[in-house]
Amino acid sequence: MLEQLSPQPADKILALTAAFRADPRENKIDLGVGVYRNAQGLTPIKRAVKAAERRILDTQDTKVYTELTGDPAFRRELTGLILGAELAQELEPQLASSASVGGTGAVRLALELARAANPQLTVHYSDPTWPNHITILEALEIPHRSYRYFDAASSEVDLTGMLEDLAQVKAGDVVLLHGCCHNPTGANPTPQQWQQIAGVLAQTGALPLVDLAYQGFGDGLEADAFATRLLARELPEVLIAASCSKNFAIYRERTGLLIAKSRAEGRATVQANMAALNRQNFSFPPDHGARVVSTILEDAELCADWQSELEDVRLSMLELREQLAAELRERTGSDRFDFIARHRGMFSRLGVTPQQVDQLREEYGIYMTADSRVNIAGLNSQTVPLLADAVAEVIAES
Ligand code: LMR
Repeated sequence: MLEQLSPQPADKILALTAAFRADPRENKIDLGVGVYRNAQGLTPIKRAVKAAERRILDTQDTKVYTELTGDPAFRRELTGLILGAELAQELEPQLASSASVGGTGAVRLALELARAANPQLTVHYSDPTWPNHITILEALEIPHRSYRYFDAASSEVDLTGMLEDLAQVKAGDVVLLHGCCHNPTGANPTPQQWQQIAGVLAQTGALPLVDLAYQGFGDGLEADAFATRLLARELPEVLIAASCSKNFAIYRERTGLLIAKSRAEGRATVQANMAALNRQNFSFPPDHGARVVSTILEDAELCADWQSELEDVRLSMLELREQLAAELRERTGSDRFDFIARHRGMFSRLGVTPQQVDQLREEYGIYMTADSRVNIAGLNSQTVPLLADAVAEVIAES
């Protein structure tokens, strides 16, 4: 029977990591999967995470099940980080939440929940979006279509197109948004533009699903939560799928959170539906990463140390963006790549062709996805000039 299974296409982002590992060249550069690397090319465990793990090792006296929707302290603390203490408290009677298997698990749970509420829904996603959004929608057989988001000519958000498309969305549909640090483009609406987006969404009656995978990687923990907080404040219902993979650097621990804001009368039912979906999928969500996060957020000293390490990562990415934009300007004699310095988050699309992406990999050992998305956090001050040289050479040749 198992012979009847069809072959599966490799995930394009993860396949790149495997190809990179198999490449014997020493000066190769991996700008594929979204993982932060320091100047030595390592993805270290954060100091506060190590300290929290030590504390858990010393004091934890049981591994008995928590709740079907995860540890309440984790949910409360992470909700506070995402919404800010004041708004989290104000909305508390309206919030249901569940710990999830990473940010991906939160997105999947959100979509399953939305479909259970409205089996007729269509999900609208940005063009382009994180490819796994579409993989999940296809697996769940949820009808989906894109809305305009990115203007490739300027490498900025196509706000007019986005607002026009969102205005057509029906009540009962879901609009999937990137809360900050848009993946794959790096182009993000300004706060004023988010106000306009929220206004259009409010008119349509669509349910926003905010994917917040990079809080703290763009303009800072507070600024990166701006859009999420705005939507949570202004709209009657919102889903928020958050990830701790990147900002706590606990990728493999699979730690995320789904928050749902609904009317207060509906909250208990929303919570019960999250619990029921978890039960049929995997029973209890993983707890180790969640406990690390709540241990850090509950302790002022650990929290301050985590924030300062996160801020160093963020500022180093901004420096790399400035450096790359400047070196490309110098080598190409044009401002074509200046958007790299304006973008935020781990990614930007260079805007070179798929053939040039192939050439960069084959001739220079520089790995990026076919859409020319580069992981800025995979660079360092030594590799930026190599990338700039290679890009300038391939575009000069064609
Ligand atoms: C990425 O887009 O590279 C990251 O979100 C990692 C992943 O799981 O794809």
